[in-house]
Amino acid sequence: MHMEHLKLSPLLKEAALADRVNAIGTAIKEQFKDDEEIVAICVLKGSFMFFSDLIRAIDSNVICEFFGVSSYHGASSSGEVKLTLDLNTPIENKNVVLVEDIVDTGLTMNYLIKNISARSPKSLTTVTLLHKPAAKKVDCKLDHVGFEIENNFVVGYGLDYLGYYRNLPYIAEVQNIN
Ligand code: IMP
Ligand code: MG
Repeated sequence: MHMEHLKLSPLLKEAALADRVNAIGTAIKEQFKDDEEIVAICVLKGSFMFFSDLIRAIDSNVICEFFGVSSYHGASSSGEVKLTLDLNTPIENKNVVLVEDIVDTGLTMNYLIKNISARSPKSLTTVTLLHKPAAKKVDCKLDHVGFEIENNFVVGYGLDYLGYYRNLPYIAEVQNIN
């Protein structure tokens, strides 16, 4: 299918995203004391745009780390999570803030929580920009959720369809897949 045949309908515009991202950044800062360091982990690829806005909204000492997982092919979850890029810094005894783009079935977040927890951080705070409660297969602890959305496929602001649309500055529902 050529990308121009996908019908997009805007769901979350830039201003709505910015307001919510700033509010989450403030809430995260308030969880910690002023001199406490935060290790913010960007889950690649989908959360890179959310992550870059979020860290600018956390007015504290933030260290950025990148963690790559791949779990999705086209518009339906494979249920398998593959590590594509490991952290290159120990996070033992650190305050970790894990930043995801979307929790769909929950399988990826579940894998991430287990993987990160096994490295004995001092604390683990989970953040997801989007959450589809209706798609849930496994429970996972979500400390900050940007928006709960319906069980439709979305793209933009880092989220892709077959690698496309990550550069869309807002989030849109795709009308003609699922
Ligand atoms: P889960 O393991 O089923 O929760 O899926 C999580 C991953 O699938 C996310 O980190 C996304 O990369 C991807 N994903 C889930 N839903 C969507 C969507 O609507 N659009 C784009 N990617 C999605
Ligand atoms: Mg993801």
